[in-house]
This record gives sequence, C-alpha cells and structure tokens, in this order.
Amino acid sequence: MAVVFPKGFFWGGATAANQFEGAWDVDGRGPSVDDHFMGGSVDTPREITLTIDPDKLYPNHDGIDFYHHFEEDIALFAEMGFNMFRMSISWSRIFPNGDDAEPNEAGLAFYDKVFDCLRAHDIEPLVTLSHYEMPYHLVEKYNGWESRELIDFFVKYCETVFDRYQGKVTYWLTFNEINTGTSSLGAMMSTGLIKGYEGPASGIEVTPQQCFQALHHQFVASGRVVRLAHEKYPQFKMGNMDCFILSYPATCDPADVLANQQEMDRMNWYCSDVQVRGAYPFYAKRYWREHGIELKIEDGDLQDIADGKVDFYTFSYYMSGTVGTHGVEQMQGNMAMGGKNPYLESTDWGWQIDPTGLRIALNEIYARYQIPLMVVENGMGAYDTVEEDGSIHDPYRIDYLKRHVQAMGEAIDDGVDLIGYTWWGPIDLVSAGTGEMRKRYGFIYVDKHDDGTGTYERRRKDSFFAYQKIIESNGTEGLE
Ligand code: BG6
Repeated sequence: MAVVFPKGFFWGGATAANQFEGAWDVDGRGPSVDDHFMGGSVDTPREITLTIDPDKLYPNHDGIDFYHHFEEDIALFAEMGFNMFRMSISWSRIFPNGDDAEPNEAGLAFYDKVFDCLRAHDIEPLVTLSHYEMPYHLVEKYNGWESRELIDFFVKYCETVFDRYQGKVTYWLTFNEINTGTSSLGAMMSTGLIKGYEGPASGIEVTPQQCFQALHHQFVASGRVVRLAHEKYPQFKMGNMDCFILSYPATCDPADVLANQQEMDRMNWYCSDVQVRGAYPFYAKRYWREHGIELKIEDGDLQDIADGKVDFYTFSYYMSGTVGTHGVEQMQGNMAMGGKNPYLESTDWGWQIDPTGLRIALNEIYARYQIPLMVVENGMGAYDTVEEDGSIHDPYRIDYLKRHVQAMGEAIDDGVDLIGYTWWGPIDLVSAGTGEMRKRYGFIYVDKHDDGTGTYERRRKDSFFAYQKIIESNGTEGLE
C-alpha cells in the first residue's frame, strides 16, 4: 500500500493541563480534582485525599512545569514539525472555584501567551475544555456532575474562554473521553463523583444511576456549548472526544458476540451516538431499565442535545480488548479495560498493542457517522533509560508509532476521512491512571521523577527524530 495522507493533515501531540502544566496554586488558580490524587504505580492505586497534605506527594501539582517552560516546549514541537497541538484549559485556572462570579484574569492571560506562541510557530491549537478535571470546590459542594448546577457553571466557563480566544482557537473538544463516565472507574476524574471520598482510587463505587445522570448533565452542557459556538462563532469547529476501546468477542460463541456488541454499545457508542447524532441511541432505554437507571430529563434537555451535534469525531486509541461469557482474564487499563487477547503483546503496564485494531476502529466509526475523524490520543507508556551520554534510545516507541501510522494510512486508503493525529504525551508527563512519571510517553524526555526530584531539563529521544521524519514527508517516509 502507498500510504497517502491528505494534504494539510494535522500532525501533532496531545496533552492535558492537569498532567503537565504544574503551577497548581500559582497566579490565582484553584485546586482541581487531580490535585487531590497522590502518585501510584502499575500495581499500587493512586490515593485520593480530602485535603492536601503538605507531607505527601501529589505529582500533578508540579507536572512537568509547562507553565514556566511553554516557550521551550512549543519550540521543540515546532522542530518536530507539528501543525497541531492538543491541550486543555484548566477550568480552575479560569474559575478557581467553578462557581465564581468573575474569571481569574491571570489564568486567562496565561493561555493568551500559549496560543500566541503556538500561532507564532504555525501550530493550530486543538483545545479540550474539560480534560479529566474540574475545580475541586465543585466536587466538595455539588459532587461534581451529579448536580445539574454544573451545567450553568460549565457553560459560563466556555462562554468566557470562547469570547476571549475566539481569534486564536478554532478547534474545540467539550469533554475528554466522556464515555469513561459510564463506569465507576472513570467517574472519579471525568465526572468528579468523589465528594467526601478518601482512599484508593480503585475503591470508589458509584452507582449506574449516578454515572448516567452525571453523563446526562454533561450531554446537556455539551449540547448548549456546541449550539452557542455554532450560533456565535461560525468559524469554530466543535468535536466530541471518546476513549475508543475496541473489543472483540472472546470466541465465536454467539453469546460472546452478543456480549461484545453490548459492551461496544455501552463503552464506545452510547456517548458518541448522543454527541454526533444528537439523540440517545435506540438501545438506551433497555440499558437504563436493566441497570436500574431512571434519568431525570428536564424540559429542553433533549432539544439542547439535538442542537449540539458535533462537527467532527475525535477519540483516543491505545489498545483493544476482548469480551466473553466464559470467564475472560482481564488486562490492565486506566479508566477502561477489557479481556486479554492471546494474539497481542502488551506494554509494561499491560495495555495490549493492536495497530490493526486502529484501522478497524476507524472504519467502524466512519461507517457509523461519516463525519471527519481525528485520532487525538495514541501512544505507549514505557520505561526509558538515559544513557551516559544523555541519549535516550526508544525503539519500542518508534515501532508502536510506525505501526499505528501505517494503520491510519490503510484506513485512509479504505476511504476513511481522517484529518489528524495527535500522539499522546509528545513530552513526558504525569500518567493519569497511575500518577507516575516513569510511565513515559514522550518523544521529549523530561528530567522529573516519582520522588519529586528532577531538573525539568528537556531532551530529545530517538523517537523525536522518527516522528519528525514521518511528519516532514506527510507520512510517506520513515515507516519502514
Ligand atoms: C487517556 C487520557 O485515558 O489516556 C489521558 O485521556 C491519559 O489523560 C492517557 O494520560 C494515558 O493514560 P495513562 O493512565 O497512562 O496516563
């Protein structure tokens, strides 16, 4: 196959404010949900604390200090050839408590500088409005998105940043991996259902009623925000963002095929059907009934959802899983997981590597929605070693990158309208699932460690040059 990426294809990287900005209490920023999560590891879950204990280590507080390194980092992204950079705005930098009357000017000014810097390097920003975070005050007072009141707070926050950055940002995503909110695991960070909770993140139990009601509030908020954008800022392009966990039936037993179909409906289609088609899917009613969910839907909610259809579909893709009815051994994940697949290898964190699955996912999504697609997260967390001369050789990451770029090329050749690719964590950052720094994703190494030490020095890994070559040739070279 001759890989042909369309002219103007977006190549770049993706990040989240809470995982890399640091400066958690600087210039008027309020604490966010993530600031209450301590570091963990591949086998030790992150602990959540009710208050910030000064004697404990909270890796998100300092991140990799992008706040003070953004010019250097964006210059490195430009050197790799990025023409798109996905980042999120920290809600609590703009509204420190979430329900404040006025925004924090210092927070707004920070993102002005970042967007100006990106523009100066001809890099298009792709901005996530809420990436696994909200002001912690909204958790304490309202239990996050369980409360309807969050809709107005979120809309106000979006109005503020739309107005401020209308000349600087065109591409927006409402909620990161919104579909992880369909389970307890994802409800911690994505919908903030942790009011009063202290203990291991894995110990949280949230009922399906709470999860799906919180999601309903997010859908209404997203709908209102997308409508507002379309009415007031016709130049804006609005997208959803789902965590696509492709799953295969564990066997060809029809019971497994059905179980997998139902899992795909819950995990991958429920939220995107709402955000792309503007209505709850046909299978929702039965799902709600069988899981004891009685949604409180107010007058106007379904119209808000109908008016909020997105312009393009974005998703993260890391792995695939299996679903079966005969006892399937589970792989590890962060906010989502699935069963093991004997045909696939895994990363050191147990995530199954499946580039062909990306081609399958792209085809399935495009067949269903027929709107432009972007892969806005894809990458592999790995242990990196800094050699004595300071170099970092990461052939495993290069291999993962090439195979996934090839799969995207195949999908484009299949006829899929894929318009962009942003690698997760082009620069090392704090892992969302485990809170580690040693789970490194970057093409750029950052000297920051799990005990809190480090100089924050940046270094180019071998993969930096591999990605540079791919981008330079628009995906025609560097894949051998
Ligand atoms: C996605 C999230 O689930 O996966 C990111 O949107 C996250 O925030 C990424 O960092 C990788 O997961 P992890 O747990 O390895 O950081």
